[in-house]
Amino acid sequence: MKILGIFGSPRRGGNTDILLEEILKGAEKEGAKVDHIYLTDYAITPCKECHGCDHTGQCVILDDMQKIYPKLLESDIIILASPIFFYGVTAWAKALIDRSQALWAKKYLLKDPSLGKEGRKRKGFFISVGATKGPRVFEGAILTVKYFFDTFNAEYAGELVFRGVDGKGDIFKKHPDALEQAYEAGRKLVRE
Ligand SMILES: Cc1cc2nc3c(=O)[nH]c(=O)nc-3n(C[C@H](O)[C@H](O)[C@H](O)COP(=O)(O)O)c2cc1C
Repeated sequence: MKILGIFGSPRRGGNTDILLEEILKGAEKEGAKVDHIYLTDYAITPCKECHGCDHTGQCVILDDMQKIYPKLLESDIIILASPIFFYGVTAWAKALIDRSQALWAKKYLLKDPSLGKEGRKRKGFFISVGATKGPRVFEGAILTVKYFFDTFNAEYAGELVFRGVDGKGDIFKKHPDALEQAYEAGRKLVRE
């Protein structure tokens, strides 16, 4: 089983990175093969809305996103980690998500069977943290991520989110059981 961990925060070693590392450790413990992508290592141009993908299912922008499409399609489980920035995911993660429009076109306009009902089934999981404690702080991001996962046939398998987390490493202080939860979530994702 192949798992792709997508690190969507620009702060290396920050709270979502810590959680994603831990969930991936749990998945590895269950025998999964893990691949890591730090979005800050990739130059991903935002979608230009040129509709170049409508007839081909391929994005015309030849940048680092071209390295990520195959990784998404080769994975059984995709875990996206992004902190909340202005009630959504980071711009790094959103650029990746918007560029999945090419997969959306392949699935819904071109009706490519590989992304249809009979295609390979995947699972998607979301990790996030936010500084505030508002009840709705993750709502926008979760909705965005669900539709992102749908473009490559990944069933939304759930999320692990923590409020009141701001400074680097706050996750340890504010939620002492968060790492254990992440590790267990990684194991469960592979087992189920
Ligand atoms: C540009 C920016 C926007 C933010 N917007 C929000 C927000 O809307 N709601 C919130 O709860 N926290 C917000 N935060 C706080 C981050 O979610 C928080 O610092 C988080 O712990 C960062 O995670 P990381 O360590 O994984 O990068 C924002 C932080 C930045 C830098």
